[in-house]
Amino acid sequence: MKFFIDTANLDEIREAMDLGILDGVTTNPSLMAKEGIKGEENIKKHYVDICEIVDGDVSAEVIATDFDGMIKEAEELAALHPQIVVKVPMIRDGVKAIKYLSSKGIKTNCTLVFSTGQAILAAKAGATYVSPFIGRLDDVSTEGVELVAQIVDIYRYYDFDTQVLAASIRHTMHIPQCAEAGADVVTCPLKPIMGLLKHPLTDIGLEKFLADHRK
Ligand code: G3P
Repeated sequence: MKFFIDTANLDEIREAMDLGILDGVTTNPSLMAKEGIKGEENIKKHYVDICEIVDGDVSAEVIATDFDGMIKEAEELAALHPQIVVKVPMIRDGVKAIKYLSSKGIKTNCTLVFSTGQAILAAKAGATYVSPFIGRLDDVSTEGVELVAQIVDIYRYYDFDTQVLAASIRHTMHIPQCAEAGADVVTCPLKPIMGLLKHPLTDIGLEKFLADHRK
């Protein structure tokens, strides 16, 4: 399972890199705005800065919602750096754009996916990644992790190449749950990742080992 960090914060990306477990980064317009990154040129520069910190794929989202606009933005984003994956929303023109971009060899991440039907369309269009948003499903009293498991099963039946990228992860336990569901990738903020380190028995055990060593 690959680990992506879901942030546009360069310090957090560096910290996850420093832990040695980071395989990529996902961003979205809300995360860019949270870091105060505004204006086309600054946004593009920020994507390049992220690519220079990590070795893996970096998702950069289009803003246009029409086919021509999405293709124009996608080609500009893809030209910024070989690690860029173009994030495209699950809408009618988005599916068409994914089909076109995959035929041109441009990697895509189909975002805002909330159903198995949407995931099937993304895979049929040739998306590199599909992003089910599990936390937002949990928010409306639906089991988000179940959607991840269902998509994984469907993709396995039909041997789709699209990787299941579990997104909108809100807490540490979402990560092992997505792993159990067979997600190819989880993308999450730094805090849930660091939460994986914690277990009280590890702390108690280490304290005891060190105390015994001192004796
Ligand atoms: O990867 C998608 C993610 O950024 C959305 O997370 O917490 O806004 O639902 P959230």
